[in-house]
Amino acid sequence: MKFFVDTADIDEIRKALAWGILDGVTTNPTLVAKTGRRFEDVRAEILQLVAGPVSLEVTDMTLDGMLRQGRTLAQLGKQVVVKLPLTREGIAACKALTDEGIKTNVTLCFTANQALLAAKAGATYISPFVGRLDDVSSDGMLVIADIVQIYRNYGYQTNVLVASVRHPVHVLQAAKLGAHVCTVPYKVLDQLFNHPLTDRGNEQFLKDWAKVPGQS
Ligand code: E4P
Repeated sequence: MKFFVDTADIDEIRKALAWGILDGVTTNPTLVAKTGRRFEDVRAEILQLVAGPVSLEVTDMTLDGMLRQGRTLAQLGKQVVVKLPLTREGIAACKALTDEGIKTNVTLCFTANQALLAAKAGATYISPFVGRLDDVSSDGMLVIADIVQIYRNYGYQTNVLVASVRHPVHVLQAAKLGAHVCTVPYKVLDQLFNHPLTDRGNEQFLKDWAKVPGQS
């Protein structure tokens, strides 16, 4: 499973890159707004740092506007993935941009039927939001399981990108279901390292190592 970090914060991206396990980045308008910086500046910096897929979202909700913004974004770098909402216009834009060879990520997906539409439009990625589904008492991971099964049934090439991840168990469940990608907030990515037995074991090894003659 690939790991993307779900942030527009440059420090977080740098730290995640330093671990050597990061495959890409996803952003959205909320994450960009949180930086307090201009989108043009943030995206330029991310694209300089990250060689893997970087999702940049359109904000014009008309078909023409999405196509215009999508083409402009795609010209910024070969790693750019144009993020489109799962609306009628978004799906039409996905089909048109895919036909032009532009990579797409269809976002705000909450049902397997919506994911089917994105696959038929040739989306590179579909982003089902598991955390937001859990928030309204639906099981987000059941939607992932359905999408994985449906895509396998028909051999769709669209990658299942698990989004709106809130905790490490979401990551575990995504991997068990065979999702292609999990986009994870920096905090959750950091939490994946943690286990008290790792810390305790390491402490003991270092204490014992200090007892080995010739070591300090
Ligand atoms: C990913 O592409 C989405 O923008 C993101 O995961 C949404 O997460 P949230 O529900 O925590 O805002």
